[in-house]
Amino acid sequence: MKVILKNQKLENIPCDVLIINLFENTKTLNGGTGAVDTALDGLIKKIIKEDGFKGKLGSTLAIRTNGEIPAKKVVIVGLGEKEKFDLSSVRKASAAGIRCAKKEKAKTVCSILHGAGAGKIDIKDAAQALTEVSQLALYNFDRFKSKDKKEPKKEIQTLIIAEADKDKLKDIEAGIKRGEIVARAQSLARDMVTESAITMTPTKIANIARKIAKENKLKIKVLDSEACRKLGMGAFLAVAQGSHEPPKFIEIKYTPKGKPKKHIAIVGKGITFDSGGLSLKPANSMETMKDDMSGSAAVIGTMSVIRELQPKVAITMIVATTENMPGGKAYRPGDVIQAMNGKTIEILNTDAEGRVTLADAISYVVKQKPDEIIDLATLTGACVVALGDTSNGVMTNDQKFADKIIKAGNEAGERMWQLPLYDEDRDKIKSDIADMINTGSKGKSGAQNGAVFIEKFVSDIPWVHIDIAGPSWIDKENEYGPKGPTGVGVRTLINYLTNYV
Ligand code: BES
Ligand code: ZN
Ligand code: ZN
Repeated sequence: MKVILKNQKLENIPCDVLIINLFENTKTLNGGTGAVDTALDGLIKKIIKEDGFKGKLGSTLAIRTNGEIPAKKVVIVGLGEKEKFDLSSVRKASAAGIRCAKKEKAKTVCSILHGAGAGKIDIKDAAQALTEVSQLALYNFDRFKSKDKKEPKKEIQTLIIAEADKDKLKDIEAGIKRGEIVARAQSLARDMVTESAITMTPTKIANIARKIAKENKLKIKVLDSEACRKLGMGAFLAVAQGSHEPPKFIEIKYTPKGKPKKHIAIVGKGITFDSGGLSLKPANSMETMKDDMSGSAAVIGTMSVIRELQPKVAITMIVATTENMPGGKAYRPGDVIQAMNGKTIEILNTDAEGRVTLADAISYVVKQKPDEIIDLATLTGACVVALGDTSNGVMTNDQKFADKIIKAGNEAGERMWQLPLYDEDRDKIKSDIADMINTGSKGKSGAQNGAVFIEKFVSDIPWVHIDIAGPSWIDKENEYGPKGPTGVGVRTLINYLTNYV
């Protein structure tokens, strides 16, 4: 879908569906909605009344215009209560509008900029949100469907944003561009997770990373298991032992023009399938375990657009990707293994594999002394129990840093909720025979057990761990897209890397 800006009045634009909006319980129609109503001789006011349309956030009403204006139909979207209106309302309204236009079989849609007239919201943010959400809400993965089962290609091809005021065009254009970039990055992450483990192997992830690096002129290194062994990555390789798929350790580097303000490491968990290993998962817990590489999809998705975004920081992306399988050579409960930084780990549960792979991924990048480390990982079921699929778990060794990530995530519509790490939690991963165990207190604070383990490898570098296990997969569609893999993390990373440093 193309998004274009037209320096024209809303009511004069030819299209299949024209999207306008309405705050809850408003009596007078003003702004763009008012202008369209006037052009239609008060038709909108009349129908709103007749149909009892209240303007609840995300509700929609479609009306035929019978040739009174160049738009064939008008869709009214509810914006909810004016006092509660914020960027998240803009997103919900945008998604509802575009979905309704799709239902009306529109090919060309023109939309009002939700929130642009409300005063509180920056026009650039409004344009970004509308563009981003419209693309993401219509996301559809049908690569594996037979031809006759694919959705007919009647998709919306053009979204026109109309703005009569010349002074605002530049900002809106910038918002559209950014929204388009973010949606593209997140869609790539979704594609990667949705594809499934039979083809989305560590080798394939490495090939995608290579392609992205080439297209973006970024430095890339892909280490095979032999190279990892030489570096002493006993932890990552232990997890990989149970699978026939060769593991890959991927490093991509971005350096900005001029002196970088900081060097930030972004690390993504990349388990292409998590069977649990010998500590085998029950069948139903395995159903969604192709999504255990969502962290890697998020960091790779982010790197895929980094040249276009041009952040002023140096970035090192690390993905240590492997499958976690119970093959004959699989690592076992009781095994003691050694990570690249020399620390030893007593494995008590082979299903707590993510942290074990991250131990080497982080040990590797710590040697480069980055200023900050962010890891994204579908790390624990406990985090899903605690926070569901509506927010990500944030854990940290540096509160100021975490505050910024939490703000960046919440702003971008990826909710972040912090869980505490106390010294008592740190004690829970002590081992009798090694430096640590890979589990923790049984049945208690599972998300934090994972975090305090990873913390052992970050040295004294400011670090934020984002457990995305919940939001990486949704069971019901939301404003950002259909059920299934979400590509969560991309929006937080992009917002943080470009606006917070
Ligand atoms: N990949 C899982 C965590 C997960 C669970 C992600 C549900 C998404 C949805 C992780 O590797 C895992 O299995 N963790 C264990 C750790 C436990 C054995 C200490 C868990 O959370 O049960
Ligand atoms: Zn696991
Ligand atoms: Zn896992």
